[in-house]
Amino acid sequence: MPTAIVTGATGILGREIVYELGRHPQEWTTVHALSRSKKDAYPPTIVHNYIDLTADAQEMAKELKDVSADYIFFAAYLQKDSEEDNTKVNGDMLENFFKALEINNTVSQIKRVILVTGCKQYGVHLGRAKNPMVESDSWLPEPPYPPNFYYRQQRILHAFAAKHNVDWVVTYPNEVVGFAKGNFMNLAATIGLYAAVHKELGTGELPFPGGAAFYEMFDSFTYSPLHAEFCVWAMTAPGARNQAFNVVNGDVETWSNLWPKLAARYELKVPADQFARPAPDASDVPMADNPPISIMAKSLGLQGRTPQSRIEQTIDLAKWSQKPEVKAAWDRLAEREGLEKDAFEKATWMFTGFVLSRNFHTIVSMSKARAAGWTGYHDTWDSFEKVFDQMEKEKILPKATGRFIGWSL
Ligand SMILES: NC(=O)c1ccc[n+]([C@@H]2O[C@H](COP(=O)([O-])OP(=O)(O)OC[C@H]3O[C@@H](n4cnc5c(N)ncnc54)[C@H](OP(=O)(O)O)[C@@H]3O)[C@@H](O)[C@H]2O)c1
Repeated sequence: MPTAIVTGATGILGREIVYELGRHPQEWTTVHALSRSKKDAYPPTIVHNYIDLTADAQEMAKELKDVSADYIFFAAYLQKDSEEDNTKVNGDMLENFFKALEINNTVSQIKRVILVTGCKQYGVHLGRAKNPMVESDSWLPEPPYPPNFYYRQQRILHAFAAKHNVDWVVTYPNEVVGFAKGNFMNLAATIGLYAAVHKELGTGELPFPGGAAFYEMFDSFTYSPLHAEFCVWAMTAPGARNQAFNVVNGDVETWSNLWPKLAARYELKVPADQFARPAPDASDVPMADNPPISIMAKSLGLQGRTPQSRIEQTIDLAKWSQKPEVKAAWDRLAEREGLEKDAFEKATWMFTGFVLSRNFHTIVSMSKARAAGWTGYHDTWDSFEKVFDQMEKEKILPKATGRFIGWSL
């Protein structure tokens, strides 16, 4: 019976992989959940092991002395302030983890390794990429683009797999909708808190803080439990061997379709004229000089038509979250409802501002995964509702009782 190691076991993506494996105790008899902290009471087949992936390989080998497995899910992530540092730290974590397994002579047991990365693969953090994004799209040259830590991690994975004759799979999720306490990129927690505080402020309205242009543009989302199902499927699927896959829900969404549903959940209204109002807290930040699509402009027939992309917030979320009246409303709400006090401070305002405000579409193709036999799908609004429900249970969000019942004319 197969055994597994999951690194990043407390993270928004890794945690769901642990739970997905735990739901199948007959198939996955022992699962080693690795992280520095332990935040959950796990099902019986899950063994939590402490690991610091920033330690050197010798140190890590000692920590891993009782840990070996047939399958490895690598979903650890440590955010740094620059792409150079992200590449150094996250690349080293993976490389030293592999070296530690070599030191312990446990590599021969490994059949397949899955590395979780994301759609920064296509440079969506730098500007507009080609749509739809497909796995065969060219990697961005570094330079002129900054180093991409996913590229370094994938090179390390490919080299390790070739050296030891191990299979590999890489996933590219996008805009993850999931539950985790205190992680670096949590869209659902942040927009839930934004809505709950607006309800507390008593205006009856929920203005969209992101860009007017992006409100009507398409984006692709990944429900974290669906990503976990994908990973467990891909771990043994013959068609997934030695391949990288986009992993998104399978629908495409716009915030003009999602935002009124969020407002309705909190019994608020989206202001009809929200983008025509004065916007004293707006911000507009340019992205990389040349968007990723520019490297393909010639072959796409788009030469001269690939301007610099921008992040255009109608309400700059990082600034909004620091306003005295906003903080006071959160303190009142958290006190009255018994919520986790530091949830607001820990929310990822800057990251969410970026997710809601780019001025380009992000359409992630699932064709390759489907051709390999994957049939999973999850509706994006339902993903948000499920995560909000969980966050209410965990006292991160207050109970919201409103429901979207349809569009009023
Ligand atoms: N979240 C998103 O919206 C999103 C979207 C697309 C792609 N991705 C990508 O998905 C991957 C996973 O990210 P995530 O968002 O799931 O991360 P996350 O929620 O921030 O979780 C990070 C995990 O890594 C562990 N970790 C961090 N430093 C560690 C260390 N020194 N030693 C051992 N474990 C450590 C953390 O556990 P401890 O702190 O307990 O050690 C935690 O379990 C990343 O490549 C990320 O870029 C994320």
